[in-house]
Amino acid sequence: MPRNNFFFIFLRPLLLSKMSIYILGIESSCDDTSAAVLHNTRMLSSVIANQEVHQKFGGVVPELASRAHQQNIIPVVEVALQKAKITKNQLSAIAFTRGPGLLGSLLVGTSFAKAFAMGLNIPIIEVNHLKAHILSHFVRDESQDSHPEFPFLCLTVSGGHTQIVKVNSPSEMEILGKTIDDAAGEAFDKAAKIMGLPYPGGPEVDKLAKIGNPLAFTFPEPRIGNLDYSFSGLKTSFLYFLRDRLKEEDDFIEKHRADLAASIQHTIISILMKKLKLAVKQTGLNQIAIAGGVSANSGLRDAIEKEATLSGWKTFLPPFKYTTDNAAMIAVAGYFKYLNGEFAPQSITPYARGGF
Ligand code: KG4
Ligand code: ZN
Repeated sequence: MPRNNFFFIFLRPLLLSKMSIYILGIESSCDDTSAAVLHNTRMLSSVIANQEVHQKFGGVVPELASRAHQQNIIPVVEVALQKAKITKNQLSAIAFTRGPGLLGSLLVGTSFAKAFAMGLNIPIIEVNHLKAHILSHFVRDESQDSHPEFPFLCLTVSGGHTQIVKVNSPSEMEILGKTIDDAAGEAFDKAAKIMGLPYPGGPEVDKLAKIGNPLAFTFPEPRIGNLDYSFSGLKTSFLYFLRDRLKEEDDFIEKHRADLAASIQHTIISILMKKLKLAVKQTGLNQIAIAGGVSANSGLRDAIEKEATLSGWKTFLPPFKYTTDNAAMIAVAGYFKYLNGEFAPQSITPYARGGF
């Protein structure tokens, strides 16, 4: 191996990992404006400004999200730096979510990161939002001090994505299976909307499911090959089931809301778990992590723990604050790229779609 390669591949990361690196992470892919400061992988601060403006529309309105990001980004970053008790001049680099997400929202975080870094004369690091959800397991703080060893499997379940990923290293990840239509979070949100629950519906379904009977109603599971998922058929059968029941009993939903929530949650989890178990069988890996907004679901967490006991899995369930969108995960993904010297040019632009 040429000496130069040896330096970049082995020595540089090793030397840098012994140094004090301060990364500012910025996340603005959807409706949360978030900034976090990490000292190496240790979280010093994490600030999230939620956008309540979308609630009355029953979903995220992209134009309103982008405007709210513009209002929030500077105060959120200021508070993150204050809470971390460092000055902007101590920052080593700025990591930002480049995509996927809402383009107007991503543009705000990307433009801010570029301008702020240029002013400070420090590098910028582009981060893939989905990889960052997975790498949130490597943020260290009082609630999380262990992480999976590479390679491991991660079930990434959010409002926009559902994937089973083989994680070989912070940069090398293989998608083994993914949804061909709706994401698991969408299935939760759409079922909740049909039942008249507020947006986002996932947490509402989760709460109601705790007092309902998961076997009260059964819904068909998709028959789809290999490790892929499909959730759009479930939404349609839920809709038709309720339409027929409402013809007979117009207060059917009110009377059975908890049982409906428990049953639809039970079906979504059963679909998720079957493919995850198949992935474990196919890869022979037994360290299993979950990530993304739906990884907050108590039924899914219980199902994973139950399977862990039965099958000897070593599981990694993220603390709740790292399940939904946050900038600590962006900063930690940025830290790993910093070690490899993977910096982005000032000409970089965000992308709305695409995997990794
Ligand atoms: O990762 P995330 O914050 O944003 C995306 O990148 O999409 O995920 C948001 C999704 C929403 O669909 C929301 O309903 C779902 O995560 N979610 C839940 C729970 N908490 C959030 N779904 C089921 N149970 C929960 N407890
Ligand atoms: Zn997300």
